[in-house]
Amino acid sequence: MTTRDSTATKEWQALRVHHDEVKGMTLGELFASDPARAGAFTVSECGLLMDYSKNRVTARTMALLNDLAMSRGLEKEIARMFGGEKINATEGRAVLHVALRNLGGDPIILDGIDVMPGVRAVLERMREFSDEIRDGNWKGHTGRPVRNIVNIGIGGSDLGPSMATEALAFYSRRELRSFFVSNVDGSHIMETLRGLDPEETLFIVASKTFTTQETMANAATARRWVVDSLGSDAAVRRHFVAVSTNSSAVAAFGIDRERMFEFWDWVGGRYSLASAIGLSLMISIGPERFFEMLEGMHEMDMHFLRTPFTRNMPVILALIGIWHVNFFGAESCAVLPYDQYLRRFPAYLQQADMESNGKGTDRDGNRVNYATGPVVWGEPGTNGQHAFYQLLHQGTRLVPVDFIGFASPLWEAGNHHRLLVAHMIAQAEALAFGKSADQLRAEHIPERLIPFRTFEGNRPSTVILADRLDPRTLGKLIALYEHKIFVQGIIWNIYSFDQWGVELGKALANRIIGEFEQGRWHDGGHDSSTSALMRYCLERG
Ligand code: F6P
Repeated sequence: MTTRDSTATKEWQALRVHHDEVKGMTLGELFASDPARAGAFTVSECGLLMDYSKNRVTARTMALLNDLAMSRGLEKEIARMFGGEKINATEGRAVLHVALRNLGGDPIILDGIDVMPGVRAVLERMREFSDEIRDGNWKGHTGRPVRNIVNIGIGGSDLGPSMATEALAFYSRRELRSFFVSNVDGSHIMETLRGLDPEETLFIVASKTFTTQETMANAATARRWVVDSLGSDAAVRRHFVAVSTNSSAVAAFGIDRERMFEFWDWVGGRYSLASAIGLSLMISIGPERFFEMLEGMHEMDMHFLRTPFTRNMPVILALIGIWHVNFFGAESCAVLPYDQYLRRFPAYLQQADMESNGKGTDRDGNRVNYATGPVVWGEPGTNGQHAFYQLLHQGTRLVPVDFIGFASPLWEAGNHHRLLVAHMIAQAEALAFGKSADQLRAEHIPERLIPFRTFEGNRPSTVILADRLDPRTLGKLIALYEHKIFVQGIIWNIYSFDQWGVELGKALANRIIGEFEQGRWHDGGHDSSTSALMRYCLERG
């Protein structure tokens, strides 16, 4: 046991005792005993409303969770991140995505140097380039303006911009079409290219390292397509730009130095949307809207930095997550946006959360003996209601839910929005309060069906509401979850900003790729299952 282990603290023990006392309480009882409960467990900050009253928490639970956060030195840890300390210790890097949206003029110092002039300079270059594309002044190799933007990247170099471009499509310039190619499956790029005119297509090769195999394979295919279609290597200069930290690899690909938009090793891939990785988004929605998103992020950053934990939205969201995972044993949590534009938000959060907190080794190198990051999943409402909500309501697992919704629609489309929002609110109500056997009997439901039609309720959810989905609000939501993840990493005493767990698969794939190239499946020292699978693919492929 180390001093850093949260579960060995007296604050954790107090939570354990408290959990034993309250675990039998129902949300029905909690609401019945306190008519002011909703107000007491709702925070309205930064233009967001977060109602966490339908979680199985009391005022004492929140106080004890707060004690835990304080005892883990959370305030100090937040200051260390914003202060540019190298808190990504296994990679020896600072974690400064907050600098990317720090547009107020305050310096952020890393190794004695203010990073902000560099951040502003890249944003300015992105703005100029986006305007050039959007105004039709950037011409392709044959002199035609660009109409199609294809972002080639994977993981953090894809999920952020693709999620946000879809989320903010309402604000996009519709004549410019955005595409995102990520999968190394050739079907992804081939299906994307088949509808496009190379003369009017610009590729953004987005890769922090510029070595990621999937991205490099897709970029090479796109390059061949451009050169073959336009008949000259010189076309690469007008049809490719790069977003990377690796200038020599970018130059070797044939992209001009002045067409490389740089970012820095202190920006983690899954935290990089506000960097040049967001270039495709900026082109789609325009610099002004992009900057609004950054302002929204910054507003949430400042809220996180400056607000007492009792009103601090990322901290509360994180602590409720800890309560579910470590005391109620929740294995997963669902994020359910009631907004079609946020269709990819759960997928984006999967990387943000699971690549950050899916760790089983603590900061001292010991195997943890408590649960860490849960499985994050979700689909937009109301589709999920007709798919997996059955399990949420009547299954044997506890799945805490975050609902995300908006008071106003972006489209005036009859009563659609009323229907949508009503469903979201109703789902939270149904999960919390269920439907008892007595209620069913009062409705004259046949006795034999009562066990099947009973909803035990008492299933936790948090509802996050904003007025409407716009760039600023999206920025706040993204930063809210980023900081939630940070807080949980502190409590779990794990390093949230590395991702060593992705390395082994990459290395083994490279070995198998080499063996495939030589047509070998039998002598690579693999187990019998791996060899048989290789043989099947080699013989039939
Ligand atoms: O999946 C591992 C990972 O390193 C992610 O963290 C990252 O977002 C992704 O690969 C892409 O990396 P790059 O931007 O270097 O191509």
